[in-house]
Amino acid sequence: MKMDGKTVLVTGSTDGVGRYVAAKLAAAGARVLIHGRDRERARTLADEIKRQGHSEPIFYQADLSSLAAARQLAETVLAEHKRLDVFISNAGIGSRTLGTERRTSADRHELRFAVNYLSGFLLAHLLLSLLKASAPSRIVNVASLGQHPLDFDDVMLTKGYTGARAYAQSKLAQIMFTVDLARELEGWGVTVNALHPATYMNTTMVREGGITPISTVEQGGDAILHLATGDDVAGKSGLFFNGMQQSQANPQAYDEAARKRLRALSLELTGLSA
Ligand SMILES: NC(=O)c1ccc[n+]([C@@H]2O[C@H](COP(=O)([O-])OP(=O)(O)OC[C@H]3O[C@@H](n4cnc5c(N)ncnc54)[C@H](OP(=O)(O)O)[C@@H]3O)[C@@H](O)[C@H]2O)c1
Repeated sequence: MKMDGKTVLVTGSTDGVGRYVAAKLAAAGARVLIHGRDRERARTLADEIKRQGHSEPIFYQADLSSLAAARQLAETVLAEHKRLDVFISNAGIGSRTLGTERRTSADRHELRFAVNYLSGFLLAHLLLSLLKASAPSRIVNVASLGQHPLDFDDVMLTKGYTGARAYAQSKLAQIMFTVDLARELEGWGVTVNALHPATYMNTTMVREGGITPISTVEQGGDAILHLATGDDVAGKSGLFFNGMQQSQANPQAYDEAARKRLRALSLELTGLSA
């Protein structure tokens, strides 16, 4: 993996699989833009990368449970960087993060939908001009095999809420968005793919859910790096991968009418339609 001269943004890289991916990209020579909420965790990662003799990553702090914060993050990246070769939308919360109760974001959207999907949707759109200017470039949406179809009458899950359903619908929304955006980006030299990195990696999200890990962070991280940098996926777009293998997502991902509804809703909720 050679990433000299490339700039990569990895959201949620202060912990878990994003942290592993950021460190590997820095070791491969990339200028890495790391992101998370916690400045101390970012500092520890930056020191670790520097100690190994690689370029110090640049930290961006943003709580993605606020669309204003996501917008601010994109604006800062656009102002401070002349290119963006890869955008890895990885930040996320699990099905049991912060407990089992339904929670909402700063914008009063269901929290998992907001953090795992809407913020990434907004970031990708706001960063598109830079990604297009840096083509060939790539977007990688870190989704999951846990997928639940969206009920467009109750996307915010005001009835029958469970954390598992909220997580799984946010992950399917990411994949629907991937298929949709790939169409929109045809001819621009920007590809977008989604993946399930690995099942129950040993990360904070899995441990706080009380689940015994069955995969390593390295397994999932290498699958993300494959989509971000692999020669064999160059030019491929709109696909869902299970680890290293191309796979099929929940049927709703291939339902054009459902994707159109999700896109209209997302443009409205993020203020992009205005
Ligand atoms: N673990 C698995 O087995 C598994 C399986 C399938 C898919 N995935 C997906 O892989 C991705 C990474 O998960 P992980 O397992 O590595 O989780 P993790 O160890 O819990 O790390 C999550 C990362 O996201 C950031 N984050 C969480 N909430 C945020 C918020 N409101 N604003 C900004 N950043 C926030 C965290 O930042 P802080 O340091 O600020 O908390 C952290 O850097 C997620 O999208 C997850 O759905 C994981």
